Amino acid sequence: MAISIRQLHPHFFGEVSGVDLRKPLSRQEAIEIEAGMDKYAVLLFRDQEVTDEQQLAFALNFGERENPRGGNIVKPQDSRLSTGLNDVSNLGKDGRPLPRDHRAHLFNLGNCLWHSDSSFRPIPAKFSLLSARVVNPKGGNTEFADMRAAYDALDDETKAEIEDLICEHSLMYSRGSLGFLDYTEEEKAMFKPVLQRLVRTHPVHGRKSLYLSSHAGAIKGMSVPEARVLLRDLTEHATRPEFVHVHQWTVHDLVMWDNRQTMHRVRRYDQSQPRDMRRATVAGTEPTVAQQAAE
Ligand code: OGA
Ligand code: MN
Repeated sequence: MAISIRQLHPHFFGEVSGVDLRKPLSRQEAIEIEAGMDKYAVLLFRDQEVTDEQQLAFALNFGERENPRGGNIVKPQDSRLSTGLNDVSNLGKDGRPLPRDHRAHLFNLGNCLWHSDSSFRPIPAKFSLLSARVVNPKGGNTEFADMRAAYDALDDETKAEIEDLICEHSLMYSRGSLGFLDYTEEEKAMFKPVLQRLVRTHPVHGRKSLYLSSHAGAIKGMSVPEARVLLRDLTEHATRPEFVHVHQWTVHDLVMWDNRQTMHRVRRYDQSQPRDMRRATVAGTEPTVAQQAAE
């Protein structure tokens, strides 16, 4: 059966049919899906009851697995999943929802802020693939914003102003904006800010994107308040309804997004009930800022 893609939003977001992600992809299928990612930036695959191993194998068609180290406060020995996927659920190692005052739960609430995955890493993520294993009964939609369309819609003066700006990104900025401010010395070292361009260019089609994320908390050569006002303004612009697609989850949906050209966030949901979401992350291949490579 041939792969086909139906666009669900005027700017981006495609729904794919005609592929079974439990089976290895043919070379042709992998090429068509990657081309679909370049074009639509987010792809939805419905009815994909994959195991963690199958999800990871599918992800590896598009690059290498990103090392999850440094992306969370949960220590490897306390992690619920040992299969190499990022745990984006609200569950503890015992499989039950984390208590509302649990530190990992409070940290994970940062996913409710608009972000691009791993923008806090020197080489940020390429694709993220999120599989819905248990859907929460109330809320928990994931929203996506097309950062190419948002860039295109800026006026020329703003485009010129931001073209060469370099931002500092850290998990401590996104969590800090929610009032999560206490870190161990080890965490502070792990979450040391990294540099990212504010405008980035897609390596295949060459379209520019606003590279925003709630992890961004400063801009080189600018005062912090001035930088944050600019970042807020741009984020407000980029997440206007015309650039956003809301995905309401059905169990066994798999959604794959390009972190180089989109942002996303999860909406609040019922924390007393499970929400089991598992993410495979495809590593990026280069920093967005040349001098970072030397650091
Ligand atoms: C993620 C993420 C949102 C969600 O997996 O990177 O931000 O809906 N998830 O759980
Ligand atoms: Mn995310």
